[in-house]
Amino acid sequence: MQGKFITVEGVEGVGKSTNMAFIADYLRGHGVTVVETREPGGTATGEAIRELLLDARRTDICTDTELLLMFAARAQHLAELIRPALERGQWVLCDRFTDATYAYQGGGRGVPQARIAQLEDWVQGELRPDLTILLDLPVEEGLRRAAGRSTPDRFEQEKRDFFERVRDAYLQQAAAAPQRYRVIDAAQDLEAVQAALRQVLEDFCDA
Ligand SMILES: Nc1ncnc2c1ncn2[C@@H]1O[C@H](COP(=O)(O)OP(=O)(O)O)[C@@H](O)[C@H]1O
Ligand SMILES: [Mg+2]
Repeated sequence: MQGKFITVEGVEGVGKSTNMAFIADYLRGHGVTVVETREPGGTATGEAIRELLLDARRTDICTDTELLLMFAARAQHLAELIRPALERGQWVLCDRFTDATYAYQGGGRGVPQARIAQLEDWVQGELRPDLTILLDLPVEEGLRRAAGRSTPDRFEQEKRDFFERVRDAYLQQAAAAPQRYRVIDAAQDLEAVQAALRQVLEDFCDA
C-alpha cells in the first residue's frame, strides 16, 4: 500500500507555511499518518543545500548551479525521506516540490522547461505528486504579507516582475494539469482559504 504525495505551491507570502499544519491535521483526522516536509530541504543534507540557495550573500550562484542544487537536494529528499515514507504507506505533505522549479527556475529565470523535465525524469523516475494545491494571490499582496517575516533571502531579493513570471508559470502548470492541480484563491481571509482547502481535501480523500 503506497501513501499519497501532496504538495503545496505558490509564490512567497501566499500562505503555504501557514496552512501546512491545517492540511496535515485534516489528513490525520482521516486516519492517515502524515509526514510534513519542505523543499529545498527536508533532510540534513537538503537543509545544508537550502542554506546555500537562500543565502542572500551568494550573488555568485549561476542559474544552472541553482537548478542543479535544487535537484541535488531533491534527490536526497526522495532517497532518504519521501520514497521510504510512501512505501511504508505514509502520506507525504511537502511545502514546495518540482512545480516550484518549473515556476522559479523555469518561469522566473528562463530555464527551458525541457531541461527541467530531463532532470525531473532522472531524479524522480515515475514519481509525481498525487495532488498539488496552488495557493494563488496577486504578487504585490504576497510580497506585502511576506515582508514582515525576516530579512529577504536570495529569492526574496528579486524584483516584482520575477515573481509575476513565477506566478504566471504556476497558473500555466495548473491549467495544463487540471487533474492533479487544485487552485485556491489565497486573497481570501484565512477562514475562507481553509474552507476551500477542506473541500479540496474532502474530494481528494473520497476519490
Ligand atoms: N489568508 C490570509 N490572509 C491574510 N494573511 C495571511 C493569510 N494567510 C497567511 N497570511 C499571513 O501571511 C504571511 C505569509 O504567510 P506564509 O504562510 O509564511 O506564506 P508562505 O509560506 O507561502 O511564504 C504570514 O504572516 C501569515 O500569517
Ligand atoms: Mg513558507
